[in-house]
Amino acid sequence: MISIIFKNNLIAQLKKRRTLVVGFVFWAVCGSCFAQLFGAPSAPEPSTGLYKKSLVTFKSQGVAAANPLAVEAGFAMLKLGGSAVDAAIATQLVLGLVEPQSSGIGGGAFALVHDAKAKKLRAYDGRETAPAAAKPERFIGSDGLPMKYYDAVISGKSVGTPGTVALLETLHKRHGKLPWKKVFEPAIELAEKGFPVSPRLHEVVKLDRFLKDDAAARAYFFNEKGESWPIGHPLKNPEYAKTLRSIAASGSTAFYSGEIADAMVNAVRDYTDVAKRGDLTQTDLANYQVIERDPICFSYRAKKLCSMPAPSSGGVAIAQMLAALERFPMAQWGANSLDTVHAMAEAGRLAYADRAQYLADPGFADVPKGLLDATYMKSRGALIDMTKSMKRAEPGTPPGIKVALAADPNIALTGTSHISIVDKFGNVVSMTTTIEDIFGARKMVRGFLLNNELTDFSMRFEENGKPVANRVQAGKRPRSTMAPTIVYDAKGAPEIVTGSPGGSAIANYVLKTIVGMIDWKLDPQAAIDLPNFGSRNGPTELEKGTPVEALKPALEARGHTVSVIDFTSGLQALQRTYDAKGQPTGWRGGADPRREGMVIGD
Ligand code: GLY
Repeated sequence: MISIIFKNNLIAQLKKRRTLVVGFVFWAVCGSCFAQLFGAPSAPEPSTGLYKKSLVTFKSQGVAAANPLAVEAGFAMLKLGGSAVDAAIATQLVLGLVEPQSSGIGGGAFALVHDAKAKKLRAYDGRETAPAAAKPERFIGSDGLPMKYYDAVISGKSVGTPGTVALLETLHKRHGKLPWKKVFEPAIELAEKGFPVSPRLHEVVKLDRFLKDDAAARAYFFNEKGESWPIGHPLKNPEYAKTLRSIAASGSTAFYSGEIADAMVNAVRDYTDVAKRGDLTQTDLANYQVIERDPICFSYRAKKLCSMPAPSSGGVAIAQMLAALERFPMAQWGANSLDTVHAMAEAGRLAYADRAQYLADPGFADVPKGLLDATYMKSRGALIDMTKSMKRAEPGTPPGIKVALAADPNIALTGTSHISIVDKFGNVVSMTTTIEDIFGARKMVRGFLLNNELTDFSMRFEENGKPVANRVQAGKRPRSTMAPTIVYDAKGAPEIVTGSPGGSAIANYVLKTIVGMIDWKLDPQAAIDLPNFGSRNGPTELEKGTPVEALKPALEARGHTVSVIDFTSGLQALQRTYDAKGQPTGWRGGADPRREGMVIGD
């Protein structure tokens, strides 16, 4: 066991706060990171061990995110009287610096914002889009077959028009309280003065086999000997600071046109191999639009839950899985039991079969509304047999299908992060943010990394003459599984704010956390700490080194094919607390021990 206490002045200061509990002890180093990184493309972001966390309680305002410096930046905005959105922007801009492998301004994001004054929930889609020149056969190689996953990722073809900057600006215009420039200050300061390289950043840079191939990334992430900067090294990113200064001064126009836009366009074309050159243009960038969508809301055990609609599949999958589980005595079965894992894995099979068949950008694909029809969801759940696994589910026939489609077999990897925030005005933000694979397309421009989000499209565009809903099309947004989620209490106030990175496994991670808090009455930290497990309509996946691993023989006896893997979620969850009379008393929060996140509140 290796113990490294991550020290820096900021953390030391933070530790003095009564409201804060930081367990930032890097207590185990992953033995299978290598396999995660180079292995089967069903593996999400690699594990770098566990960082012990404790439950945090606070009165009225708090931030949970994947890195302490980013959380501190967001919390500083709340202390200045800023809104949850102000805090989310500051948090995101610092995440792009200190956790650049997972999210940043070169990527896209989805945000749910509960506006307390308007008593309204809004869902904002800042997903990357395919360039106008994109064609369905984008990821078909010269041999007529789908490209190898990493041949597609490490190329300009995987880069979609980034949406995060436009999203942050839209959020700020609608829900911000502090001046736009103010929310940029923490990230600019850290980028200019330097931030200490975290254990996870050190480890993932060391493990990545592609990052060095990009000259700008090599110069930034590695020392002169070509080694990952050591933990605690003060890393400066003046290019990022300059980019942020431009956006702070001129708004998103500084990003979507002019020098920064030109640099992105040139970078996606900057490959010696013609087949790897991308086609993003200045026009694609200038035309980028954030879309406000209707959140999808559903019920579970008499609670109302809301999550992200298509082009994310995450909200629909969670709704379907919860509907399938509602007939089972989950509270009685408890966490980590054979019946629980069996039922949740089977519910996953059914939901992921529908996901592959029907979920895509609703501006291009006819996503059947019937996927959320109560009778349909109940009929799907009725297919679960507690004595034996269905092994592989077929998609259902929800009401309202208009086009015969073929399934998309793509399983997304992810460099993704989640932010949960509440402010003292009662506003809430749940935002999941991504550059897709870890370090995205491994292309660094002006201090930030470009996404590879277009590999979230299906590589195949048709199957047996039928189109794949999630095929590449010009201007389309790739299907996601990101599921920023808010659970409401009986009075219509946000009660739980959660979400996670984890590629196509996100829906299973969020499901486990919700069931943990609602059925098993766990606090957010305990729910997040639960082992990850589930099925994406392949094997039943169990998190390595956790109690559920012991269920493998019993699950196999019920017909499951079981795969034991590192299952690196990055959950953050905040939960309102109540007294015996049901009156709200405050909040409590947890961050995923599988990553470096934390919660600060007061
Ligand atoms: N790139 C991860 C997701 O959108 O689900």
